[in-house]
Amino acid sequence: MNTSPSNLSAGQVRLRDVIDRDLPIFYDQQRDPEAARMAAFPSRDREAFMTHWAKILADESILQQTILFDEQVAGNIVQFMQDGQPEVGYWLGKTYWGRGIATRALAQLLEYVHVRPLYAHAARHNAASIRVLEKCGFVVTGTDTGLFEWDGQPVEEAILTLAAT
Ligand SMILES: CC(C)(COP(=O)(O)OP(=O)(O)OC[C@H]1O[C@@H](n2cnc3c(N)ncnc32)[C@H](O)[C@@H]1OP(=O)(O)O)[C@@H](O)C(=O)NCCC(=O)NCCS
Repeated sequence: MNTSPSNLSAGQVRLRDVIDRDLPIFYDQQRDPEAARMAAFPSRDREAFMTHWAKILADESILQQTILFDEQVAGNIVQFMQDGQPEVGYWLGKTYWGRGIATRALAQLLEYVHVRPLYAHAARHNAASIRVLEKCGFVVTGTDTGLFEWDGQPVEEAILTLAAT
């Protein structure tokens, strides 16, 4: 079996609109404790999760896309407004990590989201997410502390910016 890096990133990544059938899969993906720790974002229970997604889907200012990997639901990517600034965020199921999927999904989103500057926040310890953003041209431009807590401690977040070219 070929296990070269290029083979690891083989497989097709594409984005499509979110459909109701995706939501239970997103729910399971955000329940993973390692993923929650990585994002420094506590998992929601089913009711809170479904309420949150109903709001996201009803909000026309938010772009929500399902990330498909070889037609399987690998996760989601969202572009939304936070405090008047355009932000991007994403979440992948753990079985899909480490294959370049988030990077390819973000690069595809950036082909049709043209607003710049575009921002993202990532917990300082979330090296994988920061790397994904940097590979897509984002640059660390600051730090936010105390917007969220994890284990009773303020989370230090990197602010990343994709500037106009
Ligand atoms: C963060 C996340 C989206 C990354 O997805 P992914 O598909 O595995 O990311 P990619 O494979 O496209 O790229 C990851 C990059 O980070 C690197 N990386 C992974 N873990 C790392 C670590 N601990 N330290 C440094 N770099 C790391 C990888 O090597 C890769 O870089 P490379 O291509 O230069 O080798 C995924 O792990 C996830 O959804 N996590 C849970 C939710 C989350 O954290 N969402 C983001 C909130 S800001």
